[in-house]
Amino acid sequence: MVFLRDHAKLHSGQSILINGASGSVGAQAVQLARHFGADITAVCSGAGAELVTRLGADRVVDYTRTDFTKEGRTYDVIFDVAGASSYGRCRRLLKPGGRYLTTVPSLAIMVQAPWTAVVGNRRAVIAFTGLRPAAAKAKDLALVKELAEAGRIVAVVDQTIPLVRIADAYRHLDRQGKRGTTVLDLP
Ligand SMILES: NC(=O)c1ccc[n+]([C@@H]2O[C@H](COP(=O)([O-])OP(=O)(O)OC[C@H]3O[C@@H](n4cnc5c(N)ncnc54)[C@H](OP(=O)(O)O)[C@@H]3O)[C@@H](O)[C@H]2O)c1
Repeated sequence: MVFLRDHAKLHSGQSILINGASGSVGAQAVQLARHFGADITAVCSGAGAELVTRLGADRVVDYTRTDFTKEGRTYDVIFDVAGASSYGRCRRLLKPGGRYLTTVPSLAIMVQAPWTAVVGNRRAVIAFTGLRPAAAKAKDLALVKELAEAGRIVAVVDQTIPLVRIADAYRHLDRQGKRGTTVLDLP
């Protein structure tokens, strides 16, 4: 919500590429981008392709086979959820006025974000959703609840595992990765 609504100002008719689309954040980003009416390119491994298509992606790029930065396509917004790319690599893929957003801090993005806010017409953005005031988070959670009740977004749960078996959850992640979120069941 914070990335796509507040920072990207994503709206109907725009194009977005979501890098890391099948994980916890990515699976929600795909659904929100669909809610905002964007044309969605989802980047994940082949194992997540069916999921992201079901959630609303128009196109899927398997990063194990194809480098999206070499496809020659351009986007209004690139949301690098996985933090596996960079503003430097994505800049030429952004349309004029386009935005590169990432969840993952790096020295480069800490310099690029304030610099691109005043220079040029493409922007690099990093946000920290957890650092917002509680009242802002509560307002967004209420909106998420509304969207979920309206069937616009669904929770994507890979597995639910008791807290005492957390080591098994990590082994499972190491062996086969995950689609969506792992839920830890607290006693
Ligand atoms: N700044 C903030 O406010 C904020 C908030 C929440 C999370 N985060 C950060 O956001 C990141 C993502 O969190 P998450 O919970 O969504 O992680 P996650 O559930 O592990 O998902 C990671 C996703 O990245 C994909 N991926 C892995 N390597 C990739 C590559 N080289 N290229 C493209 N995609 C790749 C995975 O796909 P496959 O499994 O198919 O490989 C998966 O779809 C984490 O670093 C987390 O700390 C930041």
